[in-house]
Amino acid sequence: MRHLLSLFDVSQQELQTILSLSEQTKGLLARGVRPDWLARMVLAMLFEKQSLRTRVSFESGMNQLGGSAMFLGQEVGWQKREATSDFVRVISQYVDFLVCRAKSHGSVEELASYDCVPVINGLTDRCHPCQALADLLTMRASVGSLSGVQVTFVGDGNNVAVSLALASAMVGMRFRLLGPASYRMPEDQVEKIIENYPNADIVQTDDAAEGMRGAQFVYSDVWTSMGQEDEEAERLAAFADYQVNESLMSKADANAKFLHCLPAKRGEEVSEEVIDSPSSLIVEQAGNRMHAQKGLLIWLALQHEQLTASRLAADGIELPLGIS
Ligand code: CP
Ligand code: NVA
Repeated sequence: MRHLLSLFDVSQQELQTILSLSEQTKGLLARGVRPDWLARMVLAMLFEKQSLRTRVSFESGMNQLGGSAMFLGQEVGWQKREATSDFVRVISQYVDFLVCRAKSHGSVEELASYDCVPVINGLTDRCHPCQALADLLTMRASVGSLSGVQVTFVGDGNNVAVSLALASAMVGMRFRLLGPASYRMPEDQVEKIIENYPNADIVQTDDAAEGMRGAQFVYSDVWTSMGQEDEEAERLAAFADYQVNESLMSKADANAKFLHCLPAKRGEEVSEEVIDSPSSLIVEQAGNRMHAQKGLLIWLALQHEQLTASRLAADGIELPLGIS
């Protein structure tokens, strides 16, 4: 059974297939076409943390494809009322996909370990693969080919940074993390990226000139992620010199675009001028969450033979490599 706990769960070719399905489905939607490729399929969305984009875009995406989605919050008692083994083996009889946003990455690994329903990571403390899919779509729409393009992530080496670094390695992009030395990406994650993608071009630096030089995309995220609220004061002090503002943007490429996964704390990690500037792609980027996840759901349905390639072809989808 295929899951998406991180982008390590797909090959480079599979990633390209998901992006292509996303772009083609986005194109159909723009022409008012909403094929019901996932008709009567059901997605459960199990969330331990707050969400706007992930929750709503998954639900809308499923509906647009003819399926449905249900939100499961605290009331279902996951990890409280019964063992996860019972929880997931039961729910897998009711639903076709399970998206989970969990405090601990180990929790989504545990759900997937029973291999009874495809599990999609909707954000954990370790990574945010669905965000990275949308980020790649957004950058591709902006510059075309991503090979050799540089994205500089400014701030904390957090879940969003880790997924973006891996996504960059998988498509041949250069990745820079600019921020204080004590907030780098976890070493084991960087090592795993380099082990899997030896050509990965990843540099972590606290030097603004070095980090921003050559950046076509400048990315930021909150300095204090969900679950780190106790560290907020310490983090505000540590990141104070790393706000993405006009002065920092002037060190990037002249036409550099600004990205942010949102929600943003305006006036902290990014200035109002930059987030609202013409170079800011944040609205398109958030919109692409839905298109990316539709591509992912379609790809998973193909993998599990709940959808056929000929059905897609009948609706004019060009079949990417690896799907017959
Ligand atoms: N970027 C993102 O995942 O947003 P939400 O937390 O609102 O889902
Ligand atoms: N790093 C942030 C991303 C939110 C989408 C967090 O984990 O809270």
